[in-house]
Amino acid sequence: MDYKNKIALITGANSGIGEATAHRLAARGCTIIVNGRREAENQRVVAALQSQHGVKAEAWTGDVADEGNCLQMIEKVFSDHGRLDLLVNNAGIGVSGDRVAENPTEQFERVMKTNLYSAYWLSREVFRRMETQAIAEDSGLRGAIINIASILGVQAWAGAGVYAASKHGMMGLTRAMADEGEKAGIRVSAVCPAMVATPMTGKTGSDYIQPEDIAASVTYLLELSPAAWPTEIVIPRRGCS
Ligand SMILES: NC(=O)c1ccc[n+]([C@@H]2O[C@H](COP(=O)([O-])OP(=O)(O)OC[C@H]3O[C@@H](n4cnc5c(N)ncnc54)[C@H](OP(=O)(O)O)[C@@H]3O)[C@@H](O)[C@H]2O)c1
Repeated sequence: MDYKNKIALITGANSGIGEATAHRLAARGCTIIVNGRREAENQRVVAALQSQHGVKAEAWTGDVADEGNCLQMIEKVFSDHGRLDLLVNNAGIGVSGDRVAENPTEQFERVMKTNLYSAYWLSREVFRRMETQAIAEDSGLRGAIINIASILGVQAWAGAGVYAASKHGMMGLTRAMADEGEKAGIRVSAVCPAMVATPMTGKTGSDYIQPEDIAASVTYLLELSPAAWPTEIVIPRRGCS
């Protein structure tokens, strides 16, 4: 995979897994579009990517839980760059440990819009446009969409119902779009980690999966030959079932 001349849009790229992924791709020469709601944090990451890796980077500040914002962002990316090689649907929020029986509708809606609808809106818009792109010689594909789901996309337990529902939804979308992508030449795949040391979990230290581990699984997926077609990589945490 030749990352130079490739353009990646990463949602939620100003923190945790998204930020680590932005750095890993930029270190290989990729142009990065950094999304998140906080403009100052987006600009901090853009400046770091430019100064540390000498790549082009820009911010698109906006809430992906809003369909209009998602459509605008994709319009702008394609009108400015003419193509997109990689979409990483990473923006997401966690939820309190409420049982489903106590969970308020507003929270369910907020989690679904942020974690699932955003991936649906963005993937739908990007997939359609990627289908019209030429196949890249180095990857043998027209583009890739990688979803940062969760181990709660393939398992669920008490207190995690709403988050798990959003990530199970993301897995349904991933598996169906991976199938649709086979013919179209668009890789669609998900990474499903257990607990990662990021601001979302507030965990730090070597007992936890590192954001860089997830970034490495994104580049692993991108570097596969075009016949290798995994729909997901599940990353459990040592010592946890
Ligand atoms: N940490 C874990 O243990 C873990 C495990 C499995 C899966 N995941 C998934 O990995 C992804 C990243 O999580 P993380 O741990 O890196 O979290 P994080 O450090 O809290 O980062 C979340 C990112 O998403 C952005 N974001 C949140 N809501 C958004 C919205 N509505 N529109 C645009 N951007 C939004 C945030 O930026 P702004 O605040 O500026 O918007 C931030 O950049 C999430 O989808 C999460 O569910 C995390």
